[in-house]
Amino acid sequence: MNEASSEVPTYRTSAWTREQAGGLARRDDVVAPVIYPPEQRLDPDLHIWDTWLVRDRDGTIADVGGYRIIVALTAPSDLLPGKRHDVATLRYFYSADGRTWATGGRIFPETEPLGQRQWAGSTVRFAANGADDLVVYYTAAGDETHEELTYSQRIVAATGGSIYGDDDGVHVEGPFDHETVLRPDGDRYETEAQSRGMIYTFRDPWYWEDPETGEAYLLLEGNTPVPEGADDCAGDPALQAFNGSVGIAHSPSGDRTDWELCDPLLDAVCVNQELERPHVVVRDGRYYLFISSHRHTFAPGIEGFDALYGFVADSLFGPYEPLNGDGLVVTNPANAPFQAYSWLAFGHRDGILVTSFFNYFDYDRPTLDDVALLPESEQFRRFGGTLAPTVRLQVDGRETRIVDTLDHAHIPLPDEDLPETFDERAARLAAERDSRSY
Ligand code: FRU
Repeated sequence: MNEASSEVPTYRTSAWTREQAGGLARRDDVVAPVIYPPEQRLDPDLHIWDTWLVRDRDGTIADVGGYRIIVALTAPSDLLPGKRHDVATLRYFYSADGRTWATGGRIFPETEPLGQRQWAGSTVRFAANGADDLVVYYTAAGDETHEELTYSQRIVAATGGSIYGDDDGVHVEGPFDHETVLRPDGDRYETEAQSRGMIYTFRDPWYWEDPETGEAYLLLEGNTPVPEGADDCAGDPALQAFNGSVGIAHSPSGDRTDWELCDPLLDAVCVNQELERPHVVVRDGRYYLFISSHRHTFAPGIEGFDALYGFVADSLFGPYEPLNGDGLVVTNPANAPFQAYSWLAFGHRDGILVTSFFNYFDYDRPTLDDVALLPESEQFRRFGGTLAPTVRLQVDGRETRIVDTLDHAHIPLPDEDLPETFDERAARLAAERDSRSY
């Protein structure tokens, strides 16, 4: 890394506007098929939700002794699913074939992580000096000095651990050092005290090195401060509370615990309050920025969905434009609007694949709040608690299209051959038919 390249370029925060989001609609190309429960959950003893892949510094899925690894938020499966966020614990799982997963255990077996509970993040293998260091970035949710549950959020780097694979599976070894590396500054990123919305956010750190410069960044979910009396959203306070952003921090020294907040990459002021789990996939020289969001976090006047939304730019710092015009990339069908959530896109040889978790199925009420009205046995029965089928996207510039789904929890390596899609099969059969007619 040279001196000049450790500067962050000058840029303007891109906006997801009410005009763009106002066009949101369930078009065929963005609606995933209905999900049916798999024969078995990834781990029947655990609820599993937000999940990410252990990656190498260049963003590829890490291959640790022939295994790929996922880290997920987990809770015991005998806990009422709606209560899981309050006890979330990071666990890892590994797989030799990308289809069947073994539970590795808690990712921090020897040290107590920070926060009352741990929310989403990212995990990177740094191969250096013949050892495989593992760095885990996560959200410390809640203040551990308080007895009652609190909703504060800060970003933590856990360093000092390592990972290796052998005939017995994958092992994570501590002890880890847990250090708070980022808190909202109240200027670019709203603090809890400033928040006027339904929930404030400063979470979901996602480590990423820009292939163009080699610079290290953390993307994160935040909110843009909109002071009372500001003229954003035509001065309408009811809209100003919707102020979600995709934040970014830069590591000027390249050190894994040294981060400085920069202006958000993108925000959705007057549009949406939560732009969750931001991450980037680079394809054909373009930067695809993805977030998950909920129907209920859109501002009044915008009809959105629980969905994966995406934006594209020619460089990491934008300007970003919404994919498909409105930003919608993958959503649930109208008769199962909450069947999946917390999507994670990753590059594959001929497209982009998207994993997510299997959320509430057999449920078509307009809001997830009504889940609590169901008898407890039904709340358990209708919660997926495992990974959803992987969605396969075809990406062409600013346009995306769902072309197929793979099995639940199927995470292929980047060079793995994928089964023929429906369209490919149809084209092959048509070509065979044509060649026979001569
Ligand atoms: C998305 C999310 C994340 C958070 C986690 C908490 O599903 O809201 O932003 O880290 O869930 O369970």
